[in-house]
Amino acid sequence: MNDYDMGGRLVAPGELPQDSVEENSLRPKTLEDYIGQERVKENLRVYLEAAKLRGEPMDHVLLYGPPGLGKTTLAGIVAQEMGVQIRITSGPAIEKPGDLAALLTNLQEGDVLFIDEIHRLSRQVEEVLYPALEDFALDIMIGKGPAAQSIRINLPRFTLIGATTRAGQLTGPLRDRFGVLLKLELYSPDELARIIRRSAGILDQPCTPEGALELARCSRGTPRVANRLLKRVRDFAVVLGDGTIDEASAKLALKRMDIDRLGLDELDRSLLRAVIELYGGGPVGLDTLAAALGEEAVTLEDVCEPYLMQMGFLTRTPRGRCVTRLAYQHLGMTPPADPKKPGSDGQLSLFD
Ligand code: ADE
Repeated sequence: MNDYDMGGRLVAPGELPQDSVEENSLRPKTLEDYIGQERVKENLRVYLEAAKLRGEPMDHVLLYGPPGLGKTTLAGIVAQEMGVQIRITSGPAIEKPGDLAALLTNLQEGDVLFIDEIHRLSRQVEEVLYPALEDFALDIMIGKGPAAQSIRINLPRFTLIGATTRAGQLTGPLRDRFGVLLKLELYSPDELARIIRRSAGILDQPCTPEGALELARCSRGTPRVANRLLKRVRDFAVVLGDGTIDEASAKLALKRMDIDRLGLDELDRSLLRAVIELYGGGPVGLDTLAAALGEEAVTLEDVCEPYLMQMGFLTRTPRGRCVTRLAYQHLGMTPPADPKKPGSDGQLSLFD
């Protein structure tokens, strides 16, 4: 899932691309304003401070974790804190080595180059990236055949920030060239409630602490979901209520949007139901499940599964996906009478 295809637009720090101007205005611009991810922030503060003391660009950074957790926002913050420009693009947008060369040669000393979905870079593009990351140089071939010559062009020193939902799909050589690896985790309801209240303040939307917590519990650990829910619930509060988001108006809006009390939407529930009703609780392979649901496997894997696993509803095994007893209970279904041995993790499987 790619929110944008920037082709390398240069943007001032704090002004990041996104699907709406409003979403941009909700992005924190400094580490101070960034809520949650405490370990990541603590380390990032040190790396930024050290780079500034040395008067050098920060080392290349790889941000990884599920979508919507704030990887682009953090890249913007790094640029802002270093006082440099950020150029934003994505793996699939860099089609040819020449596209990357054009991006790199247009950077200024110290700039941040942000590549989202970096696991989707082609091999040829990756080959060009290696010397750029290591030696701040581009090796360009002139001519063909025996007369071909390689010339080296020096680049300004820059910081690459790569973002991926799948660190495991990065090639070893690319992963090894990042000096800083930062893993983003799903947010707690308390952190999400703070994010919602901050966003409500920016949007000038009255929101009680209870209303914020109600939305936070249904935000799947993800600020992007939290901010999206906030905007939709605002619509319900304004049209059907007195304009304030409180516990009652939040509950009503969530019900109308088919989001249940733990934040599962129709797709999450369909996934769990399919594993139960079509595959006896699992194990079932991801591709089989995606075909049964008419969805892309990556959507299920990146969007649904992290939250379903965090909630303890789904497990991944070498033989495929399995639902847990909790999933049956959440859907109001009766688990099979023959559960796994006592003392196991409660996972149900035809083969156990
Ligand atoms: N908006 C989106 N993500 C945020 C975060 N981590 N902190 C504050 N506001 C946010």
